[in-house]
Amino acid sequence: MSESKIYEVPSQIAERAHIDHDQYLSLYQRSVDDPEGFWAEQADRFVTWFKKWDKVMDYSYGPDDVFIRWFDGGKLNVAYNCLDRHLDTRGDQVAIIWEGDDPSVDRSLTYRELHAEVSKLGNVLKSRGVRKGDRVCIYMPMVPEAAVAMLACARIGAVHSVVFGGFSPDSLRDRILDSDCRVLITADESLRGGRQVPLKKNADQALAECPDVSTCLVIQRTGGEVAWSEGRDLWYHEAMAEASPDCEPEPMDAEDPLFILYTSGSTGKPKGVLHTTGGYLVFAAMTHLYTFDYQDGEMYWCTADVGWVTGHTYIVYGPLANGAKSLMFEGVPNYPDNSRFWQVVDKHQVNIFYTAPTAIRALMRAGTDPVKATSRSSLRILGTVGEPINPEAWEWYSQVVGDGRCPVVDTWWQTETGGHLITPLPGATPLKPGSATRPFFGVVPALVDASEGTLIDGAGEGALVITRPWPGQMRTVYGDHQRFIDTYFKQYPGYYFSGDGARRDADGYYWITGRIDDVLNVSGHRLGTAEIESALVLHESVAEAAVVGYPHDIKGQGIYAYVTPMAGVEPTDALKQELVKLVRTEIGPIATVDIIQWAPGLPKTRSGKIMRRILRKIAANEVSALGDTSTLADPTVVEDLIDHRANQ
Ligand code: WTA
Repeated sequence: MSESKIYEVPSQIAERAHIDHDQYLSLYQRSVDDPEGFWAEQADRFVTWFKKWDKVMDYSYGPDDVFIRWFDGGKLNVAYNCLDRHLDTRGDQVAIIWEGDDPSVDRSLTYRELHAEVSKLGNVLKSRGVRKGDRVCIYMPMVPEAAVAMLACARIGAVHSVVFGGFSPDSLRDRILDSDCRVLITADESLRGGRQVPLKKNADQALAECPDVSTCLVIQRTGGEVAWSEGRDLWYHEAMAEASPDCEPEPMDAEDPLFILYTSGSTGKPKGVLHTTGGYLVFAAMTHLYTFDYQDGEMYWCTADVGWVTGHTYIVYGPLANGAKSLMFEGVPNYPDNSRFWQVVDKHQVNIFYTAPTAIRALMRAGTDPVKATSRSSLRILGTVGEPINPEAWEWYSQVVGDGRCPVVDTWWQTETGGHLITPLPGATPLKPGSATRPFFGVVPALVDASEGTLIDGAGEGALVITRPWPGQMRTVYGDHQRFIDTYFKQYPGYYFSGDGARRDADGYYWITGRIDDVLNVSGHRLGTAEIESALVLHESVAEAAVVGYPHDIKGQGIYAYVTPMAGVEPTDALKQELVKLVRTEIGPIATVDIIQWAPGLPKTRSGKIMRRILRKIAANEVSALGDTSTLADPTVVEDLIDHRANQ
């Protein structure tokens, strides 16, 4: 691998960067030596407080209780910070530029316009009975109204739970019920790559089993036909037309909840990751400014969907808190053609571009012509997120897209972390393709030997943990604090366990190797193997199923399912197709099983535990390195699986 290759900071970047190499080193040192002093300064700089905090930080990482508190006693409002405070200085500057799925359609909202929309929607929500602390579900296309909805909740102190528009009705229902949302904001249809997705129809199906949802606010996006439930359903444009644009921002405690976002874990159903107000906002704003070296007036584009944490922190909260111009894109990278991203870059003169490795790999496959057909001369900084980026894709991104001129920031973080934890800073960090490089300010990562649980010094590889809190850290699993403790703080006592593995080289650079728990990362989307297995066994012909990931050229990981049919069931291709469809229906199209292998038996220990390690090897076609199989109850099962493996 090109691991030894180092790209120094380009001088034109270093000259005007917020943070240069020496500043990074000294400020990082300060952030770990005096965390309270350091974070107090950042909180002052990045956020406008109605009332200052009493205590910067208080926490326990266990073993008994786990709690994390930042800026306790402080009062603020996130929407005020993202909107009101910018009105005097940049009210008429663009806040959100929206580029539609159809290249001829775009729209922009200034800070003043966004402020008015958010205030009106805040009043609409209040008129439907939403009060501080209530949960509101948002199931939306990538349109500015998604950001309006999030900010309107923040303005009135409601807690939003955004559910990605690609999730199925069942997934939506589960999430609405888990956090007891009473209001749903959705749209008639979404539009992606020229195709409609019937959001309202999905919502109707979900709401049929959510009797407590009393309001469904519907944005008209395509004008497609929708069913209507009188009394419950309300057109957004009609409600907004009558709403007042005066809505006082609710003063919130720093530790009041801001949002819930569901994410997959290694066991059970997705969990509601809860983020709170003060620490999250400080961390979102600060990481956005430093990681992307955002300079006032620049056009910034993060291609994520607002249904994921990247959309929360780096389309909405971070950029808007900094008064940035944030581009929001409804479409997909290859529609109408493979030049789409770069055409949008030219059209809106994008300076900072942030996307996922899976998109880069897919575009790389389409060759350099679609890239070279565009100028991209406005680009200054490139970023990636969501999964490990292979050095080949990194080089292509840097050399072909960035013409060798733009630093690539490979940002490692998670829904749970709220913002970047390990990432280069453009003006400070020499880059190694494929490495997320060094920790962000205040973040102290460590590697732990996965079986011994001991800390690894210097260069080495192990489980990636974080040794102390940062302001953007999640505070709990909504409604299940014990699950929070068990998931993140039990395995390696005293540390936050990320679920990822990593290697640290002799320069102290981190190389994320991927999940070491039973979570898959498919095209940058997290999926629990347990969720997919539960969906598969719903089928009457399936006795048992075990799901693992395998290396996939474009998606990073593909989904490989071993399925044991019920006795007497004929395992046919038609049945395979039914199973693929079933999982898509249960979870959503992101959960498309790539390979199904019929398994007369699964490799289990004598105590009945499935040995996934072996299944992973067979799926990856690494059958010469299966390791010890002597503890299996029936070792012959493995031979059959090898003989019939589907990925040869
Ligand atoms: C993976 C997305 C390698 C990782 C922000 C993590 C990465 C999971 C990177 C979180 C990266 C994210 N390099 N792996 N730069 N960024 N990951 O919660 O496995 O959707 O645990 O948050 O994505 O995914 P999530």
